[in-house]
Amino acid sequence: MRILVTGANGFLGNYLIPELLKRKYEVIATGKGKCRIKVTDTFVYEEMDFTNVQSVNHVFSTYKPEVIVHAGAISKPDECEENRELAFDINTQGTINLLKAAIPLNSFFIFISTDFVFDGLKGMYNEKDSPTPVNYYGQTKLLAEEKVKEYVGEWCIVRTVLVYGRPQMGRENLLTLVKKKNENGEVFKVFTDQLRTPTYVEDLASAIISIIDNKANGIFHISGVDQLSPYEMVIKMADLFGLNKELILPINQNDLKEKALRPPFTGFDISKAKALLNYSPVSFDEGLRKTFEIKNEN
Ligand SMILES: NC(=O)c1ccc[n+]([C@@H]2O[C@H](COP(=O)([O-])OP(=O)(O)OC[C@H]3O[C@@H](n4cnc5c(N)ncnc54)[C@H](OP(=O)(O)O)[C@@H]3O)[C@@H](O)[C@H]2O)c1
Repeated sequence: MRILVTGANGFLGNYLIPELLKRKYEVIATGKGKCRIKVTDTFVYEEMDFTNVQSVNHVFSTYKPEVIVHAGAISKPDECEENRELAFDINTQGTINLLKAAIPLNSFFIFISTDFVFDGLKGMYNEKDSPTPVNYYGQTKLLAEEKVKEYVGEWCIVRTVLVYGRPQMGRENLLTLVKKKNENGEVFKVFTDQLRTPTYVEDLASAIISIIDNKANGIFHISGVDQLSPYEMVIKMADLFGLNKELILPINQNDLKEKALRPPFTGFDISKAKALLNYSPVSFDEGLRKTFEIKNEN
């Protein structure tokens, strides 16, 4: 089966591509600029900016992908708030461009979306809950979801939450950043008044593969099981490494004005994925050990 992945140079892409290759899928990895995926297996990489219709049509007509995993996005909420036109172009129009190119091929279209489509008032959302985003990033992703739902072929929307794991491309994430700063004696402020069910990146990759294998349609909520605030996540990491917790300062959303509002309580009910995909994510403690490659003593 030929699988085309967008945003392949990104965090998820760097975990998904090797897993697809391990399973002997034919992979067409696409991204902006040169290939930055660290894999030794042979695979096809094509530069493809999906806001460029000509480039999309060229790659699709060359490779005729049977499955598309659309992971590429501008995923930083503050960046989206500041650059609304660009955010719409990449997150919404880019998705429309890919959907249009997929129609003649009747490809299975898998779109990676976010918990930020919800307002964060209820928490532990299931697939039937109504989305009402509180920031522009969420709006652009929700608009894209609506277009995916209109796609004539088979489609799947995979919403996920705060993805963590070992960074592959040098970009830090919350956990690795705080560890580095703490070891340098720097203070770090972390939110206590947001709740998420953080997702270990390998779990997300395996759920996507299960969706491909089962041709699972519709919306799926994919995340971890433990509901934690970013502060609690960081404190667990600090305990693991015996870091100086006095340098980790608990703050509220009101203490730090960010450009984009954040939904306070998200987190997912993952019962559907457990039942239909056999999805079984690791605990946050286990994901933390995997992130820092600490062997389990059990
Ligand atoms: N990470 C999370 O916590 C999280 C949570 C919920 C949902 N999601 C969703 O999950 C998906 C994957 O996230 P991620 O963490 O892997 O994000 P990421 O590391 O930021 O990767 C996104 C990739 O998309 C690429 N991209 C952006 N615009 C593009 C364009 N016009 N054409 C081609 N490629 C383009 C970026 O290219 P450059 O590398 O060149 O910038 C980047 O490599 C996204 O759709 C995101 O919205 C992520």
